[in-house]
Parts: sequence; C-alpha cells; structure tokens
Amino acid sequence: MTLIPTYGVIPALGYGTFTRKGEECLRCVDHAVNVGYRHFDTAAFYENEVEVGQALRGSSASRDDLFVTTKVWYDQLGAGEVRASTEASLERLGMGYVDLLLIHWPSPDDEVPLQQYMEEIVSLKAEGLTRNIGVSNFTRRHIDEAIAAIGTSEIATNQCEVNVMFHNEPIVTHCQNAGIPMTAYLPLAKGAASSGCELERIAAKYGATAAQIALSWLLGKGHIAIPSSSNTTRIEQNFRAADISLSPGDTEALDQMNGDRRVSPLWAPDWDIAA
Ligand SMILES: NC(=O)c1ccc[n+]([C@@H]2O[C@H](COP(=O)([O-])OP(=O)(O)OC[C@H]3O[C@@H](n4cnc5c(N)ncnc54)[C@H](OP(=O)(O)O)[C@@H]3O)[C@@H](O)[C@H]2O)c1
Repeated sequence: MTLIPTYGVIPALGYGTFTRKGEECLRCVDHAVNVGYRHFDTAAFYENEVEVGQALRGSSASRDDLFVTTKVWYDQLGAGEVRASTEASLERLGMGYVDLLLIHWPSPDDEVPLQQYMEEIVSLKAEGLTRNIGVSNFTRRHIDEAIAAIGTSEIATNQCEVNVMFHNEPIVTHCQNAGIPMTAYLPLAKGAASSGCELERIAAKYGATAAQIALSWLLGKGHIAIPSSSNTTRIEQNFRAADISLSPGDTEALDQMNGDRRVSPLWAPDWDIAA
C-alpha cells in the first residue's frame, strides 16, 4: 500500500492536470482517484476546473479526503480580482472551498503591489474559501516580500519547476531556509526525466521505472511532486513512486545529475539570477 507523507499540510504526491481537457481530463482524474491519488492540482488558467470538479465529485473519495489546489492567474491580481477569480474557480469546481489556493505567478513588473494581493488571498482563507494559501513561481525577492506581508506560517508552499534535471537550487534553498515546502512542477521535465543512463541504472536496482526514480528523488528531498500523465499505466506507476526509498548513495548519484535543462517557459524567472 502506498502511504503518502504530508509536508506541512500538503500530500507529497499529487496529480497535475495541466493540458488535460474535456473527456481526457474526466478519465484521467477518475483513474487517478481509483489508484489512490488524493491531491489534485488545477488552475483557472488550465480551463479544466469543471472536469476536475466533476470527476472528483463523482468519485469514491469523500471531499474530506481530497486535497484540491487551484490558482489565480497573474492578470487577476488587482483589487477584488483575486476574490472574483477564486469564486469563479469554486463555481466551476462545484466545491465550497479548495484546500490550497495559489498565486500562479507574481504580478509582472510589480504592476500590482505584492502586499495587496497577498493580503487579499489571506482574507479569502479567513472566510473559508480556501483552507491554505501559497504561491507559485515566486523568486527569492518575492518570497521575502510575501513573508514580510503576511508571515511565513501563512505560506503553505512555493510551486516552481524542480526535477532531477533542474534542481533549481537558489529558490529551493531559500524556501527551505524559510521553512516553506517546495512543490515541484514539471517533476518529470515533461517526460525527459523518464529515461537516461543514470536513472535507468538506478531504476534497475529497485525494479522500478526511471520516472519512478525521478519522482522518488524529489520526495526524498522533502518536496511535493505533482506529475501528470494521460496514460493509465503511467498514472499508476507514478503514484507507486512513493513506495521507493532511495539509498543515500543513489540519492547522491542523482544529485550529481544537476543541469540547467529547465523546460518551463522562457518568461519564467531566471532562477539562478533573480533574487
Ligand atoms: N505553477 C505552474 O506555473 C505550473 C507550471 C507547469 C506545470 N504545473 C503543474 O505541474 C503538473 C506537472 O507538470 P507537467 O504536466 O507540465 O509535466 P510533467 O509532469 O513533468 O510531465 C508530463 C509529461 O511526462 C510524460 N510522463 C508522465 N509520466 C511518465 C512516465 N512514467 N514515463 C514516461 N513519461 C511520462 C507525460 O506523457 P504521457 O501523458 O504520455 O504519459 C507528459 O507528457 C502540471 O500538470 C500542473 O498541474 C504548474
């Protein structure tokens, strides 16, 4: 049986839904619940909240057992817009609350002051629209400003690109030092972290797939990981990554794999430089 640890309040392994749309989204989310996932990651931007909500509401899992994340897009950060975006997300999901509400990206060029939208998102938590709040794609400077605005304990996670091919060390270390768990998006580097000599060599030792080893490395680092797949076998295999515990030697070997092979969009921050 797969036991999923929880970092802070967040189940460490979730199912990511970016690019899953329509019937495919319904099918994948339904299958993910059936194989054991309880944490689901969506966003207003993904245009699939209706399907994610429908699949989850129709599933065998009770609402209390589910952990649902959605996000507010960066053009919805003005006064009153964070609330409006969240209320619209809840409507589409058919849920009275989400478990985690994230600011998807900071306001470009600080067009909207960070303090303003962070205070607005905190007020939504106080009103029960979300159980927890967090941020995504925040650089070190944004994290420091968010902490100054609302306090570390309010920030459940910073969701950024992290995977075995892109460790994203500066922001990871900064958040860890502040006690903020990282959620690794693109945990399989869009599938690139599912092959390669080193991953396959280690995978053979554990009777696992290379993708499972890549996910297990993230979980071993104390990160939350939200892989996505459209394939029923891979959805299940990815979930079983939580059963694998890598030895210190194998973890170290994968630590050496660090490169700059990021796959997030070019308009994402240059994590090594952005303070
Ligand atoms: N906050 C943000 O700005 C942000 C940005 C990007 C993503 N996210 C979140 O993070 C989630 C994950 O990121 P992602 O979906 O972009 O990328 P990902 O999970 O790194 O990779 C998904 C790709 O990997 C393939 N794959 C999955 N499992 C595999 C396996 N076991 N073996 C081989 N290939 C496998 C999938 O192909 P198949 O479908 O063919 O299996 C799919 O093409 C998203 O769904 C979204 O929820 C957040």
